[in-house]
Amino acid sequence: MNIPRRRFDCLVIGAGGAGLRTALQLAQGEAHVAVVSKVFPTRSHTVAAQGGINAALGNVLPDDWHWHMYDTVKGSDYLGDQDAIEYMCRAAARVIIELEHYGVPFTRLDSGRIYQRPFGGQSQNFGGDQAARTCPAADRTGHAMLHTLYQQNLRAKTYFFDEFFAIDLLMDDQGYAVGALVLELETGEPLVIEARTILLATGGNGRMYRTTSNALINTGDGMAMALRAGIPLQDMEFYQIHPTGIAGLGALISEGVRGEGGYLINGEGERFMERYAPHAKDLASRDVVSRSIVTEVREGRGCGPKKDYVLLKLDHLGTDIIKKRLPGIRELAMRFAHVDPVERPIPVYPTAHYVMGGIPTDRFGRVVVPVAHGPEEAVPGLYAVGECACVSVHGANRLGGNSLLDLVVFGRAAGNHMLGYLEENRYHRLVPEKAIDKAMTHLTRWDRKGDGESVDDVRETLRKTMEDYCGVFRTQEVLDEGIKRVVELDQRLQHATLRDHSKIFNTARIEALELENLMDVSMATVVSAAARKESRGAHSRLDYPKRDDKNWLKHTLFFQDGNVLDYKPVRMKPLTVDPFPPKERVY
Ligand code: FUM
Repeated sequence: MNIPRRRFDCLVIGAGGAGLRTALQLAQGEAHVAVVSKVFPTRSHTVAAQGGINAALGNVLPDDWHWHMYDTVKGSDYLGDQDAIEYMCRAAARVIIELEHYGVPFTRLDSGRIYQRPFGGQSQNFGGDQAARTCPAADRTGHAMLHTLYQQNLRAKTYFFDEFFAIDLLMDDQGYAVGALVLELETGEPLVIEARTILLATGGNGRMYRTTSNALINTGDGMAMALRAGIPLQDMEFYQIHPTGIAGLGALISEGVRGEGGYLINGEGERFMERYAPHAKDLASRDVVSRSIVTEVREGRGCGPKKDYVLLKLDHLGTDIIKKRLPGIRELAMRFAHVDPVERPIPVYPTAHYVMGGIPTDRFGRVVVPVAHGPEEAVPGLYAVGECACVSVHGANRLGGNSLLDLVVFGRAAGNHMLGYLEENRYHRLVPEKAIDKAMTHLTRWDRKGDGESVDDVRETLRKTMEDYCGVFRTQEVLDEGIKRVVELDQRLQHATLRDHSKIFNTARIEALELENLMDVSMATVVSAAARKESRGAHSRLDYPKRDDKNWLKHTLFFQDGNVLDYKPVRMKPLTVDPFPPKERVY
């Protein structure tokens, strides 16, 4: 098949914070780097990150990277790998200063230092008083970071393929990643991009849930590409439901609101988090707060005519603080909830937000896979960073403010490692024709009209299914039913009908490809969840309400071939400090 080709040293798939931070490191290191993005880069989902990025700068309250590490390990419910967590927390201050020098307009204290706000799960002195560790640019931190990183990449001469959709990875017979097949959205023409190293930075898969803070683009593309390349996904059962989405809509209302002093009340006007987390209250970790809200509503203490949400009160903060530090939240609340939070509380309910699992990597961003009877091995040339990856610093529950940190710390680390890889692998390897043919077969399956229900109907049913059968509280019976329904929906998708070819051909085909990706990661999620018979972090089983370290202190690996699972140990040994052994997690 005669498909046009382009050749680069490095191919970065995804132009969010992870992709752009890695690309910048590569371009500054004189590599010839291309970034493929299905939307214009500054529309990537990092732009929606609100509250801030964590680093123990100690600008507002005393702080220490070691306390940050403790909080992150505890927040992860002890499933996070402690070497990677130490690496991230130690690097945090340096990468924030680097971002500041690139031009990120962080909010300032009167002293000129970067302002820091309290966020959930943060403590001083290993579980003591609340810390203030999150560095914001008002409540538009991701927006500020993404635009800054994009501009720095333009300056560094990174090449951008804007509005190109990645179809599949191209691997050679020795298992090297050698490129990707992509599709130009405007023309519908395929293109082979050859590269010596490839980074997956495609973000999350929040669109598998009906109520989500995620943008339309978050369809798990990179994770599904990895699955199709035979790479397992790790810890997919751990999906974070953020406590405060606008009720009925899901749009994010930042934890920064509670960090600034806002709090939740139920239909009886009670500040209910005092009961669930007497010490941290509204700033307990996200899994705890989300479960508490759902419990309040289930037990009939919700607000509104249907008692199906709670209220987030912040009017007591005063107009000045709200306008200065939370301007985006005010705008969102006014536009979508029709309340001005200066005067009235915002109706909120938990919303699907972030996947802790993903493509397994080490702390250099290398994709690592298990090999029979031996230690895991890196897939040569293949890297992953950001929400699509699982390094694993978030374990079973991510702390707010740690995702922006994850993507800059590990984006930088991956970029450095990729430059070393280029030194050792000086020539491009041949891209096998059969790899291209296979990827083209995947693409051209949607060159048909189909005779079943519409792709849109299948997608909406999938999203409702995941919400109903793999949500905040889970049981064996419900999860098993969820698996059955996703299997059935997968079959229905094989016959589904695209919207009218003649008018909207390209976007209809892309939406079908995205739905296939969502289907694959949904399957990974529900199968992994049904197998884990304990409660840990965001995975809350009513039938197994306790954490079970004896049997389940291990990472899940889901393989697409046969939907089978394997497990691997958690790396409990940090790099230089003593480990934090598992203990009861209370806030
Ligand atoms: O609530 C927030 O501002 C979200 C932050 C995060 O997910 O890290």
